[in-house]
Amino acid sequence: MEKLKLAVLISGRGSNLKALIDACIMPGFPAEIVLVISGSPDAAGLKYAQDARISAHSVDRRDFRNRIEADSRMTSMLQNAGVELVCLAGYMRMLSDEFCAHWRNRMINIHPSLLPAFKGLNVQQAALDSGVRFSGCTVHYVRPDMDTGPIIIQAAVPVLPDDTAAVLADRILIEEHRIYPQAVRLIADGRVTIDNERAIIAGHCTPQGAITNPQPDRQS
Ligand code: GRF
Repeated sequence: MEKLKLAVLISGRGSNLKALIDACIMPGFPAEIVLVISGSPDAAGLKYAQDARISAHSVDRRDFRNRIEADSRMTSMLQNAGVELVCLAGYMRMLSDEFCAHWRNRMINIHPSLLPAFKGLNVQQAALDSGVRFSGCTVHYVRPDMDTGPIIIQAAVPVLPDDTAAVLADRILIEEHRIYPQAVRLIADGRVTIDNERAIIAGHCTPQGAITNPQPDRQS
């Protein structure tokens, strides 16, 4: 069967790119990465693309007169590669409305919080400061407003009393690497539709029960 053609857009470390590369080489995974674009030429994550022999380029805003021109260059590259789904993975630049409109419902993002809580940057510190007992990560379709759009999948992790932002980020990142490939698989399998700005998953498997944090004390 034809695989869904993905592009992954990165700006830095690229660990989610790596998770997607690893998923795509698993037998039967219904998507393949045909292009990686980095927002800057020195993004460490570009190495993962090179190692996997995936076509990788950087599109640096500073080489263009404005955001619209840079984004339009990216759209040409994506179209030339036959990309069907754009995956933002730590891509740190705001995208133009034109780019968002062109790739509407064909572009997804991963964010390290349980949206709509804690949009933007430094979200783990914001979660700690707020005292929430759970945080996590979200894969969602992209809309022009930052960290908004129909939610495809989320994973929750407990926030622990001694957490620092870095410790919480590491706990969340493990789940990011799990759910981003899952979201891509759902889309590639044609199981996701958008209805009234909500993503509906066909054959949705729901988790059983609830978890609490802190857990009730054990009765002696
Ligand atoms: C991840 O935490 C992702 O959720 C956020 O940016 C970070 C990128 O990390 N959007 P990496 O470059 O994938 O390692």
